[in-house]
Amino acid sequence: MSISETQVGIIGAGPAGLVLSHLLARAGIEAVVLETRSREYVEHRVRAGVLEQSTIDLLDELSLSARLRAEGLIHRGILIGLEGRRYRIPLSELTSGRAITIYGQQELVKDLIAARLAAGGDIEFEVEAVELSGLETQRPTIRYHQRGHPHELHCDFVAGCDGSHGVSRRSIPPGVLRVYERRYPFAWLGILAAVAPSTDELIYARHERGFALHSVRSPTISRLYIQVDPGTALADWPDDRLWQELQLRLGTNDGWTLADGPVLEKSIALHHSFVVEPMQHGRLFLAGDAAHIVPPTGAKGLNLAVADVRMLARAIGHWYRGRQTEELERYSERCLNRIWRVQEFSSWLTGLLHRLPGMDPFDDRIARARLEWVCRSEAEALSLAENYVCLPFEYSDQISKNIVS
Ligand code: FAD
Ligand code: PHB
Repeated sequence: MSISETQVGIIGAGPAGLVLSHLLARAGIEAVVLETRSREYVEHRVRAGVLEQSTIDLLDELSLSARLRAEGLIHRGILIGLEGRRYRIPLSELTSGRAITIYGQQELVKDLIAARLAAGGDIEFEVEAVELSGLETQRPTIRYHQRGHPHELHCDFVAGCDGSHGVSRRSIPPGVLRVYERRYPFAWLGILAAVAPSTDELIYARHERGFALHSVRSPTISRLYIQVDPGTALADWPDDRLWQELQLRLGTNDGWTLADGPVLEKSIALHHSFVVEPMQHGRLFLAGDAAHIVPPTGAKGLNLAVADVRMLARAIGHWYRGRQTEELERYSERCLNRIWRVQEFSSWLTGLLHRLPGMDPFDDRIARARLEWVCRSEAEALSLAENYVCLPFEYSDQISKNIVS
C-alpha cells in the first residue's frame, strides 16, 4: 500500500477537474487528479463544442487559451430553422459584442492535461475502485488501485468532479441530498463528419419530424445532431438514412443543401435534467456533471462545470489564506442560483425546439408560434442571447435594481 498526502484530491479529469487543478495551482494549492479512464480515452471523448464568453475569459486569465484562440471558431450569431425559413439571432449585436467560441471539448481537455503535466502537476490515469471516506472529518481519505497496487491519498478537501456516474455523489450518506430531475422522451443522435460545414453559423431547427442541429468543429469537420426516440439503436441509423433526415429537417424553402461526407463518430445522448442540493457534504464538494446535468440544447454543461470550479477554487483559496470557512459554507448556495437559471434556460430552449412524440396539434401550433416570436421579437431574442452567450459568473452576487428588499 502506498500512502500519500495532498491538499485537494480531485476525482475526475474532465473539464471540471482539470480547470480546478489549474485554478488551485495558480493559488499555490497542491492537488492530485484521479481519473478512471486512460489519457488517450479522455482526450478523444467527443462531446461539447460551444464555449461561452465567460469560459473563454477564464481560460485566457489562466493562459490556457493559446490553441483555442488560434483554432477555435468565433460565432457572433445563431440561426433558427422553422418551417422552411431561417431566422438569425445576432448574439453579439444583442450582448455588446460578446460571442461564443466553437472548440471541441476533447481539444480543450488535451490542452488542459498538457499544460498541467508540463507544469509538474499530478494527474493519475487509469485508477480503479475509487472509495472516499472520512468526509465528515478534517482529513478525508481517497483509496484506489492503480495497475493492481492499492493507494491511499489523504487530503484536506475532496472535489467530486467525476461526472454524472461517478463515485463522489454516491459517497454522500442517504438523506443528505435532495434530487431534482426530469427525463425527456427523446435523445440526440450526434455525428462528427469529415465534411466542410454547410453553414457559417450553428443552425437549430424545429421540424415536424423532430429537432436537428448543424454545428461545426473546423473548416473541414461538421458536427450534426437529430432528435431520436430514446430507445433507438445506432444500427437503426445507417449513414444514408441519417443524412437524408438531416437534409429534410434542416432544409429551407429556397433550396439550401447539406453536404454530406464520411461519418467519423456516431453516438446517442439521452436528455436529462438533474440537480442535487446541496452540492457539498463535510469536506466533499461536487462540481460539474457530478452535481447537475442540463439537456444539451442550451450548450451549457461544460460552461456550468467551469463556473462551479471557479467558485470552488475561490472558496478553497480563502480557507487556505485565513482558515475562513464562510465561502466554503456558501459554495453550494452560490452555485445553485446560477445552475437553476441555466436549468430554466436549457429546459425552455429544449421545449421550444423539440417536437414531442404524439404531441397534441394545438400544443404543436402554440410551440411554433412561440418560437417564431422569439425570432421576430427583439426583446425575446435579447433574452435568448443573454442566456446563451454571456451569463456572468457572478450571477448570484449581482445586485439587481429589481430587488427592492
Ligand atoms: P465529465 O466530462 O463527465 O468528466 C468526469 C470525469 O470523471 C470523466 O473523465 C470520467 O471518466 C471521470 N470519472 C468518472 N468516475 C470516476 C471515478 N469513480 N473516479 C475517477 N474518475 C472518474 N456542454 C457545453 O457547455 N457546451 C456544449 O456545446 C455541450 N454539448 C454537449 C453535447 C452532447 C452530445 C453532450 C452529451 C454533452 C454536451 N455538453 C455541452 C455537456 C458537457 O459535455 C458536460 O457537461 C461536461 O463534460 C461536464 O464536465 P465534467 O468535468 O463535470 O464531467
Ligand atoms: C456541439 O457543437 O456539439 C453543440 C452545439 C450546440 C449545442 C450542443 C452541442 O447546443
